Amino acid sequence: MVQEALAPGPPQRHDLDANDESASLLLDLSQRYGDTFRLASQSRSNDSLVILNADDLHRVLQTHRSNYIKGIGIERVRVLLGNGLMASEGELWSRQRRLVQPAFHTQVIRSFTALMHRANAGLIERWSGHAARGESVNLTRDLSELALNIVLRAMFGTDLDRLIDAKGGNPFELLTSESRRDLPFAAKFRALTHHVLAMIAARRKEQRIEMDLLSTLMEVRDRDSGEAMPDRALLDELMTLIVAGHETTASALNWTWYLLSQNPEAEARLHSAIAAQAQAPMAGEESSATHPYVEQVLQEALRLYPPGWLFTRRALGDDVLGGFHVPAGTDVFICPYLLHRQTAHWHQPEAFDPLRFEPAAVDARHRFAYLPFSAGPRYCIGATFAMAEMTMHLGMVADRFRLQYDGPTPPAAEFQVNLRSRHDLHMRLVAR
Ligand code: HEM
Repeated sequence: MVQEALAPGPPQRHDLDANDESASLLLDLSQRYGDTFRLASQSRSNDSLVILNADDLHRVLQTHRSNYIKGIGIERVRVLLGNGLMASEGELWSRQRRLVQPAFHTQVIRSFTALMHRANAGLIERWSGHAARGESVNLTRDLSELALNIVLRAMFGTDLDRLIDAKGGNPFELLTSESRRDLPFAAKFRALTHHVLAMIAARRKEQRIEMDLLSTLMEVRDRDSGEAMPDRALLDELMTLIVAGHETTASALNWTWYLLSQNPEAEARLHSAIAAQAQAPMAGEESSATHPYVEQVLQEALRLYPPGWLFTRRALGDDVLGGFHVPAGTDVFICPYLLHRQTAHWHQPEAFDPLRFEPAAVDARHRFAYLPFSAGPRYCIGATFAMAEMTMHLGMVADRFRLQYDGPTPPAAEFQVNLRSRHDLHMRLVAR
């Protein structure tokens, strides 16, 4: 039997990671070597393989997923998240995913519509004052606070207010005030677990069940054993959901507003879509009716600036990808940021054009050409939650304001665990 050759790649050794240096290297190498290339590692025992071919992504994430675990990309994150859904593997992951999934059922997410509405109404009220005074707002910081507030309220309900009252402030705010995601940050974040344990203990003692994620996860029972989730696992899941659900959504909205500010045609179309949405039957606070264009704007922003811009898998056994031999142990890098710019799938990829997400265009495209939420069984569990939150925000805010940006274009991007803007974006608000 003839064995396939190894994929091409540069002679120099590199350790790919979620950082700016790796981002520019990946961009350069994809132009030189195409959609499958290999990098010898500097300090690791395994080589890295970057795959940008949609059929290979389908294979790794879906059809041959049992040959792949999460790999190197998750090792750094594990310190922060513990063994929650994002980082766990095998039996533990599949049991936990089964237990957590019902908390993200569409019906449950619908029950959060009112709290998402309230949080955005509060933001709009604050912004109205700034708009009237002709002041600009720190969009990045305000969106970070909004997204944190929404995920914490969905999780802890009114216990969050009790915690804030008792502590004289929100202890979780360090997620918005600190931007580094290094070891000292991880230690401070993990120290917050005692607040969560206290909330769990109080609910047990008072036998209190609320309509929030905490109660949903406390009440869930394993279908085989009938057992509740152990506290350690519950804690890791809650901490994971806070981190995974906060910064991703805030970054996506941050980039969305920047892109809209640069594309007046799309902005005008969005305004018409929102006007049409308001006239639809059943419109209002509890309505889930969203004009397709509002979603398309977000999908297109997630294409150009996917917060999860790079993630990994590790091959357990040998495989063949892009026609090349993949030895067991290879770290496979999946880069939505580059995938979403492949001219094989995207015409003029740098252009912001939400109509790429019209149903006929989506049907005509390879399903694995677009992976902002990944795909397959480890698909983002919070995708529906995030889209509900973001469509609500965009609909409500764009109805009231235009956001004007006059900083450097494009704003410098920071390629870390998430793809964020390097500096906070400031926007001038124009009341509509
Ligand atoms: C725009 C917003 C979001 C984006 C772009 C995003 C993106 C992603 C991506 C790319 C993955 C797969 C990572 C990998 O396979 O290594 C993922 C997984 C995950 N996401 Fe999200 N996410 C978003 C919002 C959320 C929200 C709101 C939550 C929860 C409240 C959440 C919770 C999770 C969890 C728990 C996983 C791990 C799922 C598993 O492996 O079973 N995400 N997300």
